[in-house]
Amino acid sequence: MPDRFGDRLAALVGDRHLQRGEAVDERYRKDLTGKYATAPGWAVRAESTAEVSAIMRMAHEAGIPVTVIGGQSGTSGAAVPSDGGLALSLERMNKVHAIDTLSMTMDVEAGCILQVAQEFAEAQGAFLPLDLGARGSAMIGGTIGTNAGGNRVVRWGMMRDMVIGLEAVLADGTVVSSLTKMLKDNAGYHWKHLLIGSEGTLGIVTRAVLRLRPLPTTRQTALIAAPSFEQMIRVMRRLEVSLSGQLSSFELMWADFYAAMTEAQLPSRPRPMANGYGIYALVEAMGGNAALDGQMFEQALAALMEEGLLSDAVIAQSDQQREALWAVREDLSPGFTPRRPFTAYDVSMAIADMPAFVDLALANLKQAAPDATALFYGHAGDGNLHANVSNGRMDAEIKQAFDLAIYRAVSDLGGSISAEHGIGIDRLPYIGMTRTPEELDLMRTLKHAIDPRGILNPGKVFTMDAQ
Ligand code: LAC
Ligand code: ZN
Repeated sequence: MPDRFGDRLAALVGDRHLQRGEAVDERYRKDLTGKYATAPGWAVRAESTAEVSAIMRMAHEAGIPVTVIGGQSGTSGAAVPSDGGLALSLERMNKVHAIDTLSMTMDVEAGCILQVAQEFAEAQGAFLPLDLGARGSAMIGGTIGTNAGGNRVVRWGMMRDMVIGLEAVLADGTVVSSLTKMLKDNAGYHWKHLLIGSEGTLGIVTRAVLRLRPLPTTRQTALIAAPSFEQMIRVMRRLEVSLSGQLSSFELMWADFYAAMTEAQLPSRPRPMANGYGIYALVEAMGGNAALDGQMFEQALAALMEEGLLSDAVIAQSDQQREALWAVREDLSPGFTPRRPFTAYDVSMAIADMPAFVDLALANLKQAAPDATALFYGHAGDGNLHANVSNGRMDAEIKQAFDLAIYRAVSDLGGSISAEHGIGIDRLPYIGMTRTPEELDLMRTLKHAIDPRGILNPGKVFTMDAQ
């Protein structure tokens, strides 16, 4: 069969950067979960915005679906290509163009890996605060497309708060570019905010100007335990004040999560703290005064211990200890692997509603399967909870029962079915549980106006027909 579209792509990018049909590499077919196996028609690695634009013009004309491929660390299927569609990888577009340490901005291409961007900034004495477990694979474009959150949102916000300027290619190949370093700009609609978090359905982010911060020079890390959720949140509110604005992470871990994670790391990593406390949190502060910050941190925790708000606290005394504490929270696979097959959730709600959610979700899950267990953890300051749910088996039926158990609890509490992992394919059937029909109609109107042929990442986030 002649492949005219493939031949035109090859003429544009060169044979080396095009794969066809069955020859398309595994990494362009799957996300981190590996569970969405697709059969794209082509995978192409673009070199520049001009090339992305030319590719989109061709795809638009031919009506071929296009999915952008980044680091593939997503977990909701948002970045798996359509069967017979085009997988467009931006991995070659990985340059940091410039860092401006007076304006505190970084001009970076979408295919740059987050950790590379972080290290680039650090080498210049600047700080890109976005941080998440997948820092070594996630690309800047993907973190914009999903409005990534991670573990420092409590202080510096999400990706949306860091994108100052943006360049993107629209479905028909039009390049829209506003690579500005200006923080304040109120001249009309901010189209960048439509693209941030749109999961590749409205445009292809090719480059961005990100907001940096001066690089903190001190870092204090502790694992703490409290008798109850409410006390733990009171601890967080107190630390927001007693650490003089330095609190930068507050990662909650329910007791079962803590037990499972630390158990899995034994014996090479002894438990940093006993099992059996009500609730745990990993706390980090970042500041700029080497003589005082450590003392301030210790004193703040000691005061909370004395008042009985905290049951226990362990402060990292070295980088190695800091890494060991973070591993309890971030090194998820040793603890999760024995629970395979499992389903992972990413929901949000008002912070005060979190314990009610956990109770309701557990009751719903037990109704779905009496042997279901759930490990809860998350980003407390953001009202963002993750849950790992398993009962040792998984088929479409049990997965749907678990989905409904979790999302009904979220919906009853007025929360959201996705805090930071997006909707993708996995959560598409449920978006109507926490978005109104009017909201979904507005989304469809916008999608239709910007991508009238529906070629940008179709079948993700919502369907074009009212459900
Ligand atoms: C985390 C990922 C799952 O918070 O979002 O570890
Ligand atoms: Zn998370």
